[in-house]
Amino acid sequence: MSRMHETLELKIYENSVEASKDIALHIKKLILDRQKEGKMAVLGLATGSSPIEVYNELVRMHKEEGLSFKNVVSFNLDEYFGLDPKSKQSYHRFMNEYLFNHIDIKKENIHIPQGKVDFDYVDTYCAAYENQILLAGGIDIQLLGIGRTGHIGFNEPGSSLESVTRMVTLDNLTRIDAAPAFNGIHNVPHNAITMGIDSIMKSEKVFLMAWGEGKAEIIEKALNHRISEHIPASFLKKHANVSIVLDTPAAAELAEVKTPWLLDSVEWTDKQIRKAVVWLCEKLDKSILKLTSADYNEHGMSELITKKGAAYKININVFNQLQHTITGWPGGKPKADDSQRPERANPYPKTSLIFSPHPDDDVISMGGTLMRLVDQGHNVHVAYQVSGNIAVFDDYAFNYLDFASDLDKLLDNENSKLKKIFAEVADYTNSDKSITKEPKSLLRIKGLIRRNEAKSASRFCKIKAENVHFMDLPFYETGEVKKNPLGDEDIRLTVDLMKEIKPHQIFVAGDLSDPHGTHRVCLDAVFKAVNILKDEEWMKDCIVWMYRGAWQEWNIGEIDMAVPISPEELLQKRWAIFKHQSQKDGVAFQGDDNREFWQRSEDRNRSTARIYDKLGMAEYEAMEAFVEWKF
Ligand code: F6R
Repeated sequence: MSRMHETLELKIYENSVEASKDIALHIKKLILDRQKEGKMAVLGLATGSSPIEVYNELVRMHKEEGLSFKNVVSFNLDEYFGLDPKSKQSYHRFMNEYLFNHIDIKKENIHIPQGKVDFDYVDTYCAAYENQILLAGGIDIQLLGIGRTGHIGFNEPGSSLESVTRMVTLDNLTRIDAAPAFNGIHNVPHNAITMGIDSIMKSEKVFLMAWGEGKAEIIEKALNHRISEHIPASFLKKHANVSIVLDTPAAAELAEVKTPWLLDSVEWTDKQIRKAVVWLCEKLDKSILKLTSADYNEHGMSELITKKGAAYKININVFNQLQHTITGWPGGKPKADDSQRPERANPYPKTSLIFSPHPDDDVISMGGTLMRLVDQGHNVHVAYQVSGNIAVFDDYAFNYLDFASDLDKLLDNENSKLKKIFAEVADYTNSDKSITKEPKSLLRIKGLIRRNEAKSASRFCKIKAENVHFMDLPFYETGEVKKNPLGDEDIRLTVDLMKEIKPHQIFVAGDLSDPHGTHRVCLDAVFKAVNILKDEEWMKDCIVWMYRGAWQEWNIGEIDMAVPISPEELLQKRWAIFKHQSQKDGVAFQGDDNREFWQRSEDRNRSTARIYDKLGMAEYEAMEAFVEWKF
């Protein structure tokens, strides 16, 4: 979808990969045009998760299509103040790892602000950086991500339109977002050196990218609120040549995605009608069956009334649709009429395969449904996709190691390997962790801790031990926040497990907002495996359900199955989540939500039930919600 949004070009893509390829094509064209003219192409580059796919595509173009970067000069937006270029989190290292090490750009043409500048010299250094951009003839294409504060570069709220390259103080929200990469907020620098808004505004062309639900709110503000220093990205509306490039989740709060019927004529599918009616109910604080034709007409939905008949008829239809999403039988109700139920009655019992990206997502996101499936006699398997080892604090793992080595001594185990591991981990603990690589042995111990917690939780949920699978997908095993791309081995392991189990229903995490993108990659692994297997006989009779919970919830209009959870069941679910002790009482990767995982999931499940209640359905304590993925 592409349209002009006031002065900006707004492009919404199905996914970030397609969107990034399009941006990379623009960059390629600029480089080739400049090559023909015998001139340099000047690129303004960003770091963070947003431009990664663009860099991947540029590297591919270099390797497969011979695109040369010899005529490219680059200027990076920013760098953390005080950081050594070699440090794991430095933007110098990021740029080398994602782009510069893989292309033929000349070293002398690369410019990245130095983090390790003498404090007294910062102003002079920044003025010189600004001057270098001018001397290069200004930036032709500037890539931007957007922070949840609305920052571009590290121009936090309060930055003026006239600001140039300078030292800034990072907003607390920005530091929270950076915390995972730094292993906790206390390690995140407080300052950065960044190009200013004015430096950015001088570029010929700007691409601002945003991917994922987490960016939806700030994108809406940046585009729809008035231009102000409170939302630095809003200044881009003054630029003559900006493209805002989004994936659908990042555009979720824009009318183009949220309420398209208010902008234009739309195709009124059942889901579109449901989404619109739920939106109208929320807007008017009414239940479905109380909506009147006037409500529809006065709120931009007269087209729906004209095409689909009176309010009464639409209300009843949507009410019934929603009513039919509710079931206490997530594996289907045996011997019952299933024509209006989300899951089919047969076969019974079913083989259910729950893919859990991290070792606790199964119980956090669908613990109530999982226990119901077991109670109702289904053969439930859980597959933990990644080890989750990086989310265990060093000292937490060290306690286990300390215990094990004391036990070792107690057992007079003289030649034990544990001694060596203990010494190795103790050395690491005393070293400069921003530069030293974490020993594999420590990562393995952390993985084991999470594995045993998952075993304990699944025992609590009465899942058979032989039905618990630890996949340890290789893409995750880098020992760092930065993961490898999904590889053939990850997909092969997923395909093999599915072939072995031959499930009748698969549950997979569809919540894509986890801070490191691991859920996204895990979902992709299952999607790819399903596509490989879709012609197998058993797969034709398999339903794939997507769940959410730890980081976000489905929009009510999208839900295909809602499983009510009683107060007692909610408590059971909490106990299952408690088995994941390493993820309790302050976790390594908290995100900006200070609640514990069990609190987040209970709040979300309760809020889903409350919304159903307000729409006019029965009142439940809590609900877990699922959307069917039709492959
Ligand atoms: C990075 C930068 C920042 C990021 C922004 C979004 O060079 O200047 O403005 O673009 O914080 O970060 P991600 O892309 O990680 O969401």
